[in-house]
Amino acid sequence: MAENPTPSKKGLPGIRNIVAVASGKGGVGKSTTAVNLAVAMAQHGYKVGLLDADIYGPSIPNMMGLKGRKPEVDVESKVLYPLENFGVKVMSIGFLVADDQAMIWRGPMVAGALGQLLKDVAWGDLDVLFIDMPPGTGDAQLTLSQTVSVTGAVVVTTPQDIALIDCKKGIQMFDKVHVPTLGIVENMSVFICPHCNGESHIFDQGGAEKLSEEFKTEVIAKVPLNMGIRANGDAGTPIVAALPDSNEAGIYKDMAEKVMAKIITLNKRKITIPIMTA
Ligand SMILES: Nc1ncnc2c1ncn2[C@@H]1O[C@H](COP(=O)(O)OP(=O)(O)O)[C@@H](O)[C@H]1O
Ligand SMILES: [Mg+2]
Repeated sequence: MAENPTPSKKGLPGIRNIVAVASGKGGVGKSTTAVNLAVAMAQHGYKVGLLDADIYGPSIPNMMGLKGRKPEVDVESKVLYPLENFGVKVMSIGFLVADDQAMIWRGPMVAGALGQLLKDVAWGDLDVLFIDMPPGTGDAQLTLSQTVSVTGAVVVTTPQDIALIDCKKGIQMFDKVHVPTLGIVENMSVFICPHCNGESHIFDQGGAEKLSEEFKTEVIAKVPLNMGIRANGDAGTPIVAALPDSNEAGIYKDMAEKVMAKIITLNKRKITIPIMTA
């Protein structure tokens, strides 16, 4: 993985690509995916940022081992400096507001906060900025696509029907604002019993493939329901960093490679559009 991702059309200075990590509903593992994907991408040698825009559940500070930390602010310019861990620059709404405060925010406030987090943070030079999006709100997707040029979205779902219906809505929301879906991550895809190695599809199977066919996208990873993923997330040490040689870490590393390949392809496609002359 050495190819440099080509700069995207407009966007924030220094940030070559923005990738939204989204889901139709909460609790499907969006933040877990965002964190491990970002750290894996950094391990591949890319310059990576992670913006936690999920004001209804800003869990990135905890998952990235940065809970309780405060970002530095330049008082004059009001610029915020991201914190850093596991090679990833991190900014979160959770660094800035009390846990119980933002829960009651309405759509326009969410949109305003997201806009500010995008514009007022000194990200520096980044190959990819991942954004952990709030689930289900159209406002955030709209603000994002209107404020910056988004390369694409990674949509996270669990395999059962109800989550897939929400996932569909998520993809459609990005379609509407012309943000391509880079791929679907099926999270909690299978449970492998640590005692007998038997596989159980606790939340069913096959749905994400059907969805990917419908929307002409790809299931880029199937992440198992795994104790190590949960425990390391809770402990603030993403499994790709804590157990880099584990199977689960391998899945996230492959995911990162696939996402980068899609980014590079999309950017090439943009650049090779022939210029029409009269
Ligand atoms: N593949 C997985 N295996 C085990 N636990 C998981 C997995 N993905 C997420 N979790 C756990 O499920 C809970 C919800 O995940 P989270 O990433 O916070 O979801 P979301 O951001 O979509 O609300 C967390 O406790 C997380 O540790
Ligand atoms: Mg979350």
